[in-house]
Amino acid sequence: MKLSNRITHLNGDGDDGWGVFYRARKMKAAGAPIIEFTQGEHDIRTHPDILDAMHRAAKSGQTGYSMVPGNQNLRETVAARVMQRTGVPTGPENVLITPGGQAALFAAHHAVCDEGDTALYLDPYYATYPGTLRAVGAVPCAIQTRPEDAFQPHAQDIARVAPGAKSLLINSPNNPTGTVYSGATLGGIAEVCKTHDLWLISDEVYDTQVWDGSHVSPRSLPGMAERTLVIGSMSKSHAMTGSRCGWIVAPQEVIENLINLATNTTYGVPGFVQEAADFAIHQGTALEEEIAAPFRRRRALATEILAAQNTVGLIPADGAMYLMLDVRATGMTGEAFANALLDTHHIAVMPGESFGTAAAGHIRVAMTIDDDAFSNALKTLCDFAETHAV
Ligand SMILES: Cc1ncc(COP(=O)(O)O)c(C=O)c1O
Repeated sequence: MKLSNRITHLNGDGDDGWGVFYRARKMKAAGAPIIEFTQGEHDIRTHPDILDAMHRAAKSGQTGYSMVPGNQNLRETVAARVMQRTGVPTGPENVLITPGGQAALFAAHHAVCDEGDTALYLDPYYATYPGTLRAVGAVPCAIQTRPEDAFQPHAQDIARVAPGAKSLLINSPNNPTGTVYSGATLGGIAEVCKTHDLWLISDEVYDTQVWDGSHVSPRSLPGMAERTLVIGSMSKSHAMTGSRCGWIVAPQEVIENLINLATNTTYGVPGFVQEAADFAIHQGTALEEEIAAPFRRRRALATEILAAQNTVGLIPADGAMYLMLDVRATGMTGEAFANALLDTHHIAVMPGESFGTAAAGHIRVAMTIDDDAFSNALKTLCDFAETHAV
């Protein structure tokens, strides 16, 4: 029996870019003391108070089917949070609760792209993006950004491929680069979207992790609220990756259609998870800052360590839990560097090539291990690079 082309071609023609990661996991399973700089997962677990709220909700009966669009209280809470952070009038009718940001990315593209439509996105990119675009039948078209611009996109590069395209997907603060898009960058992107009638999908799952500058949601820019779908998630802001709770904020008509999609796909998010999310958001920015603090600290440690050597370059890491390091001075590709570092020092990093072609010759370090281990491994990485400098 033949499977659909859509599903058998989800990953495109190349490998999935996770070769080093899988090899590191295999070595770890075989007993090697691997230090993992690879995954975007906090080294703390979900706060016990949030788990208590989840437990209370489950015990009180929230274990049946929930409302497909999301519980009214959580939709209101998310809307209020968005309004408070961006100033854009937002009500519960603008919010769909989803099982995580990933499901939201899929649903958002499903809402705006027809089969065969061109969906634009920026390289380097979060690893699932091209597969997500293919999954809805769109044709992914990557636009390069450049290390010399700290991976800030140029509006004119987007404008060049925009004619005839349907949507543009952006992500700031960015995974994998740590770049936070400036107001000027986002203003330029907004103009291109309006000129070429593009839907903008803005993935803002790292919006609470900004170390330098500030997060601007492009939905708040003039004329953008009616063409922007914002992706949010509890995963990164509240260390709730396993709870699978996120959302889409969009014009009411988009949400109404997305509810039909949810009725026929996810059928909602568990009520006890939604209650926990509602509780977590109500704890305010103090909890969000507590969860972001280790990454802020490690980013400062990394800045100091990298300033003391000349081989490894640091792309300004203004947000998110990652560092993008330039290892081109070793003459190695990111992949060769990552493999050699794993074999020599048992340190696992992600090659920049896992995230497209724009970050070739770079590696991504996730700041997700404790401070001492983080500093020591980063120093070892720098020493390793120095011994290979050409
Ligand atoms: C940029 C970006 N978007 C979306 C997601 C999906 O997150 P979740 O589905 O856990 O909300 C991730 C996860 O790492 C991510 O890095």
